[in-house]
Order: sequence, then C-alpha cells, then structure tokens
Amino acid sequence: MTSNIVVVGSLNMDFVVMVNHLPAPGETVLGRDFQMIPGGKGANQACAAGKLGSGAVATRMLGRVGYDVFADHLKASLAAAGVDVSAVHATRSQPTGVALIWVDKDGQNSIVVASGANHALTASEIQGHRASFRGAGLALFQLETPLDAVAAALALAREEGARTMLDPAPAQPLPRDLLERVDILTPNESEACILLSRRVSRVTPAEAPALAAELLRLGPKAVILKLGEQGCYYCDGQAAIHSPAFQVAVRDTTAAGDTFNAGLAVAIAEGKNIGEALRFANAAAAISVTRLGAQASIPSRAEVEAFLNRPR
Ligand code: RIB
Repeated sequence: MTSNIVVVGSLNMDFVVMVNHLPAPGETVLGRDFQMIPGGKGANQACAAGKLGSGAVATRMLGRVGYDVFADHLKASLAAAGVDVSAVHATRSQPTGVALIWVDKDGQNSIVVASGANHALTASEIQGHRASFRGAGLALFQLETPLDAVAAALALAREEGARTMLDPAPAQPLPRDLLERVDILTPNESEACILLSRRVSRVTPAEAPALAAELLRLGPKAVILKLGEQGCYYCDGQAAIHSPAFQVAVRDTTAAGDTFNAGLAVAIAEGKNIGEALRFANAAAAISVTRLGAQASIPSRAEVEAFLNRPR
C-alpha cells in the first residue's frame, strides 16, 4: 500500500557558517567554510519525502518564493528529489526566505530565519489548493508560514481525508482548534515545553509518557516526542512506544527533525506499522546528522536501507 504526501511550508536558502563556538550576545566570532545550502523546514520535509519515497510515494510541495535566483535553486533542489513544485508560486512583493545558520564543532546550531516570501502564503491561496489534498494519504506542516494559512491547510487536508502531521517548529503556543486538526504532533523537547507554557528543560525517556499525555490533552490524536540522541516516544492514548536513536558521530543537526518527519510519513504511506516507521525515521535522521547542511544532508532510500541492514 502506498499513498501520496503533500507538504505545506517554507522554502529558505540557508547561509551556513562553521564556527568553533556559537556567538554569545555582543560577541564576534571568526567562522570558516561559508556555504549556501537549500533549506526551509517545509522544503526539507518535501525533499526528504522525495528522496526517501524513492519515486514510489509521490510528493507535492505548496509554498511561496520570491522572484530571485534563490527561488530557482530551491525549486531545482526539490525537483531533483522528485518533488512536484508546480504549487510553489513566486511573489513579487518579497524575496525568497533565507536562514542564517551557525554550526559549532559539536554539531549544534543557531538559526535566524528571514521569512520573506514564506509569509506571503495566505489562507485564501490555500483554499484554492483543495485538489492538491484530494487523494493524499498524508499532509505535513510546520510553523514557518503564517498560522492562518497552516490552519486553513490543516482543515482542507482533513476534509479531503488526509492524515495530518504537524511539526510545531519554530515553537509557539497554539490554539486548541488548530491542534484538534492534527493527527500526529511531533515536537522536540523545547517545542513540547512551549506548547505546554512551561519552562524549557531536557526531557528524559522516563518523563516522556507524562509529557506526551499532557500534549494529547491539547487536542492531537497522537504525539511523537523527538528526544534527540535519546530517540523518540510515540503515544496515542492507547499504544506507547519508545524508539531508541541510532548512535552516530554528530556533525550538524540542521534538518534532522525535518528528515525524521518525512521518513515517518514515507514509512506510514507505505503501510509500515508505527514501530517500523519510527525506526525508519530514526535511521534517516541519524544519517542526516553526520553531514553538513539541510537538504545536502538528507540520505537516499538506499542509504537508509543499507544503514538499517548494516552488520552490528
Ligand atoms: O529545520 C531546519 C531549517 O530551519 C533550516 O533549513 C532553515 O532554513 C530553517 O528553516
């Protein structure tokens, strides 16, 4: 069984600089190795779904870019991954989104996004894309486009029978009526804390069940807590699974969460059970953190299968 995936979200050109340590407020640090790498949480998820779906799962992206050279690069990167970009439209009023990213020697990053054209995606434009959701198995969302556009797209996806997956990043508190349209909510630790209006702190796997239960009370049908090197925790109120992370040498965590979500969506679209889908998503994310950049780090389907089948 396979079904199609629709991704609604942002496209950014990432300006990436390697640094020894992330700058503190007021500090100037000397960086190395500047690179421009296609990114944006929405585009990363679409690119990963295209690569991991390997042609068997059709992926379509809805979003906004500007009229500039970055737009061409971003659309080309998605098209090369097999993604349908015919619903990525250009706006004259704003430049293509960019993200300024510093990556330190331990692979941790700081990101500032200048949203540009991503913020020109409107709820009324989304209403014109009903046909994009028709027949789709899953629709993926994040929060780098305006919230009313996300809410409209979630409603449309539900009406057309697609399962919805929301990555609540960048973190912000969300209204209950929006969360009630979410089938699978996938926060990391800090996003989970912000959704629950509590102080951001690390979450251990032992604390995950209570946190997931609180998140379920906000309205989604299922929650997957992304716990970084501690793996992830799935809970739908009945079944609960802790899926451990694969241990790898971390180079850059940018887009690991996006790769995870797309891997999960592809595996679900292919009919894998949730335990298998979490393992597949963890493997794709693990490979991505061993490489620099967002879309440049996303593995192919063959690489994930080789990783899962490697001798141990
Ligand atoms: O999730 C990683 C992404 O966040 C980067 O590619 C950057 O563009 C920001 O949107």
